[in-house]
Amino acid sequence: MKVKITGTGSCLPKLRVTNDDLGQIMETSDEWIRSRTGITARHIAVEETTTGMSTEAADKALKNAEISAEDVDIIIAATVSADKHLPGLACEVQKNIGAENAVAFDINAACSGFLFALDTAALYLEHGGYQHALVIGAETLSKMMDWTDRSTCVLFGDGAGAAFLTASEEGGILSQSVGSNGEKWEVLSCPKGGYLQMNGQEVFKFAVRTVPLCVEDALEKAGMKADDVDLFLLHQANVRILQSVAKRLKQPEEKFPMNMNECGNTSAASLPILMAQLDEQGRFHRGNKVVLSGFGAGLTWGATIIEW
Ligand code: UT7
Repeated sequence: MKVKITGTGSCLPKLRVTNDDLGQIMETSDEWIRSRTGITARHIAVEETTTGMSTEAADKALKNAEISAEDVDIIIAATVSADKHLPGLACEVQKNIGAENAVAFDINAACSGFLFALDTAALYLEHGGYQHALVIGAETLSKMMDWTDRSTCVLFGDGAGAAFLTASEEGGILSQSVGSNGEKWEVLSCPKGGYLQMNGQEVFKFAVRTVPLCVEDALEKAGMKADDVDLFLLHQANVRILQSVAKRLKQPEEKFPMNMNECGNTSAASLPILMAQLDEQGRFHRGNKVVLSGFGAGLTWGATIIEW
């Protein structure tokens, strides 16, 4: 598929909450959270909204790609925590950035959402005759947390990230592998108007088993080996999951950049925030092979290989 990512952007809320801050208001500790998850802080939206952060991330991605909003053909937003039930987040962003010629809609695939949105946008570019797409992952999960449940609320954070995709003659998306298992929806869910609930150990076992298999499947489809990959960008849920996947794929941990230490688990926003931060640091070079992998509620999972 000939689609390139030519712009990225992200936005984090101003308020940074450390593990020690949480230790002041509940029975937890920096030691427990850090050793179990790799998280030391997260950003929590107070004044910020899912739409506002998405708009900022989208604006940055367009600026970064040096493209004007009128040239955007599609906007797909992945979120489970939009500010409104309707309209979709993507439509509000469309108005805010002035992308009057775009078609805009949302996708809910929980923590895999950005990856599914990216794949969907790429298919539109390849088969729909469109040229430019904006893909957003954004969450204010803090609003869905039970702040008396230490087993969940310490894990998550808020933020938004965006990637700008353009149809291209070369490189682009080399392969995809996606899957879901609705039988297991109860291990991670949030009822309407209620709080997020998770069976952490079940999700952990699922992630360490499924992510390597799906990355291997995507590699096989692209005719590649894990050694050919420059960077593995995994959903930022837990450092131990990333370490386990690195080990299973026989790859050095340095190839697995992380930001969960500063951002926590931001669900659909984690991959695009990480991508934008790495892009800003100049970590991507033309021709680099990058694996993106998301996994989470549904259960859902996926891996996409991109040539930068
Ligand atoms: O984005 C979607 C993907 N989500 C994930 O990938 C999450 C995957 N799961 C995990 O990352 C881990 O399962 C957790 C980090 C959520 C939990 O780690 P764990 O090693 O599985 O801990 P646990 O749930 O088995 O809890 C161990 C102990 C319990 O105490 P007892 O029963 O052994 O006395 C918990 O009550 O730790 C206790 N505990 C805490 N203690 C201090 C649970 N949460 C906390 C806390 N602070 N925040």
